Amino acid sequence: MKALVLSGGAGTRLRPITHTSAKQLVPVANKPVLFYGLESIAAAGITEVGLIVGETCDEIRQVVGDGAQFGLKITYIPQDAPRGLAHAVLIARDWLGDDDFVMYLGDNFIIGGIAGLVETFRENRPDAQILLTRVPDPRAFGVAELDGDGRVIGLEEKPDRPKSDLALVGVYLFTPAIHEAVRAIRPSGRGELEITDAIQHLIDTRADVRSTVIKGYWKDTGNVGDMLEVNRTVLESLESRLEGEVDAESEIIGQVVVEAGARVTHSRIIGPAVIGAGTEVRHSYIGAFTSVGEDCQILDSEVEFSIVLRNASIRGVARIEASLIGRHAEVTPAPVVPHAHRLILGDHSKVQIHS
Ligand code: G1P
Repeated sequence: MKALVLSGGAGTRLRPITHTSAKQLVPVANKPVLFYGLESIAAAGITEVGLIVGETCDEIRQVVGDGAQFGLKITYIPQDAPRGLAHAVLIARDWLGDDDFVMYLGDNFIIGGIAGLVETFRENRPDAQILLTRVPDPRAFGVAELDGDGRVIGLEEKPDRPKSDLALVGVYLFTPAIHEAVRAIRPSGRGELEITDAIQHLIDTRADVRSTVIKGYWKDTGNVGDMLEVNRTVLESLESRLEGEVDAESEIIGQVVVEAGARVTHSRIIGPAVIGAGTEVRHSYIGAFTSVGEDCQILDSEVEFSIVLRNASIRGVARIEASLIGRHAEVTPAPVVPHAHRLILGDHSKVQIHS
């Protein structure tokens, strides 16, 4: 069995972060989202991975390399433009050969991994197996309709009027039956070859398509709110590790990682939180569920429930919350505008002025 991992998307919903960085490399607990997917593929006993890449190819290749760090053998498969998930299967046809495969969207995050799912698929070998999860607003996803016995009877991509709250999770298990299906479909309204339509084609031609509803937490990490939630969930299972320097005037409470080369002085860190290598935290407060990347500066500031990407600098700013701060970003207080109050006050007046 092989894995086809999709890492070509531009990540428009995460702009401006993804103007300069691939969305699959946005860090969760200081580790790129994509790494969690690759690790769970390796944990499922799969070693051969085809990585579909687009315009952010160079950056992904630089970070992921040949896959040896994950125990994987990675082959890069370039996609000229985001032409859809089914298009990715089309262009990977030769590399996939006649193997079964798991298709994994590089910006999806599945707690608990996929080893159990891969195992069940190997045992039963339906033509395709999809994962579903209940979501509050299914209109942003592929949506499945099931019959009374839990069989998939219909799939729709981002419907205006969803027939259920069961969204397609970005992990699919396929036999080579999918290859004919991706050739049979036409581009959707958004101009892409949708994998949802290809699976619908399998259903229409009476193929065996099964579904599993997963309860484990997952998110399509396509927006900032989701990123913060995923970050929070991952940090919840953090184990403390203080490898950097923490001075005697600092206080560390709860599960906190301070990476080697980081310096924490005169500060208070409430876990779970992670401070990346080479980062300086001075006279500051880092609150729960915060990930600070490598080589950042947090000086005279307070940061809570946020993701700070590497080389960012926050100086003299009280309480930053629920924020995603990009690489090399600088946050400082606005200069105090000189102002004067000119008053003509009657006797015994009382005036309260913010100054
Ligand atoms: C894609 C699929 C959609 C699925 C989603 C999961 O959407 O087309 O069916 O529910 O991934 O992440 P996209 O990320 O292309 O909007």
